[in-house]
Amino acid sequence: MTQQMEQTETKSYTGDHLLDVKDLSVYFFTRRGVARAVDGVSFHLDEGESLGIVGESGSGKSVTALGMLRLVPPPGEIVKGEVYLEGEDLTKLSGRQMRKIRGRKMSMILQDPMTSLNPSFAIGNQVAESLSIHQGLRGKTLKNKVVDMLKMVRIPAAEARVGDFPHQLSGGMRQRSAGAIGISCMPKILICDEPTTALDMTIQAQYLELLKDVQEETGVAFIFITHDMGIVAKMCDRVNVMYAGRIVESGPVLDVFRNPSHPYTISLLRCLPRLEAVERLESIDGQPPDPHVFPSGCRFAPRCPKAQAICHETYPETTVMTGTDHLAACHFPGDWK
Ligand SMILES: Nc1ncnc2c1ncn2[C@@H]1O[C@H](COP(=O)(O)OP(=O)(O)OP(=O)(O)O)[C@@H](O)[C@H]1O
Ligand SMILES: [Mg+2]
Repeated sequence: MTQQMEQTETKSYTGDHLLDVKDLSVYFFTRRGVARAVDGVSFHLDEGESLGIVGESGSGKSVTALGMLRLVPPPGEIVKGEVYLEGEDLTKLSGRQMRKIRGRKMSMILQDPMTSLNPSFAIGNQVAESLSIHQGLRGKTLKNKVVDMLKMVRIPAAEARVGDFPHQLSGGMRQRSAGAIGISCMPKILICDEPTTALDMTIQAQYLELLKDVQEETGVAFIFITHDMGIVAKMCDRVNVMYAGRIVESGPVLDVFRNPSHPYTISLLRCLPRLEAVERLESIDGQPPDPHVFPSGCRFAPRCPKAQAICHETYPETTVMTGTDHLAACHFPGDWK
């Protein structure tokens, strides 16, 4: 809390938000043509806030995050848009300036912890590297801090495990170690891409609690990328629902859960297990479209049970729903319950 207040007092940027993503588009230029993985995405994030990005596999969640960090691999490219962090447009920075941003201001725990951890270095060394680069720690202070970080992410017998290599850890410990590295940069924004897919239910719940604790202690803002509306409900203040490279609905989590306004959001919510429900989970019929050949009109129309002629012809404007911050891109928003 104290740190959050300090951050507000020392706010050095002029824009309204800590992060402001404007009309970001990331395309992959493949042999099959142009894949519009992320296609005109705009959203914002404030200090200490938690934002969920939710959607089916292939909807563009990870590529949105990679675009923000300028880590899109070839043949991908940012073709349009701006990413303002503390008022500074990251798309204009040099590679060197970007490396500093990634370490100090915005970092990401990757979807697969094996790809973010180096298999040939002990886990303690990897946390130490991050701490020495980003916090300038050395010697005994550094060693103690490494153990503290591993304890913070609940690695059992942390002192004894600093020398372990990633393959010697369980999936859950690897995930949490990757978390320790992400947090040790003391970023203002930590992006967690599918933070709990590799974890069983109990460990998942513990890890989410841990992230909440870390947020309370450090005031970090989170972006949670997930396909699970349950995690959004538990962890996030606001949510962006993505479908086929675009945000189809966004808003405060309470508003979106109480008044889901895009039929795709409603389908996602129907897939949530209900405590009292013994019935099978519903799934959404059909497949998301191939980003090389999006349908004209609303991209969800081919799967939408109530699509009208206009839905197949024109992409819908964004409508303001309950409260100014709750938006839906549908020709007939909110008519679907
Ligand atoms: N290196 C690449 N080359 C070509 N296309 C890519 C590449 N990386 C991603 N894409 C395409 O971009 C689209 C969005 O991918 P992205 O990884 O963002 O999906 P996602 O929403 O994170 O899905 P998941 O839930 O499975 O992680 C997909 O259609 C994917 O095939
Ligand atoms: Mg992904």
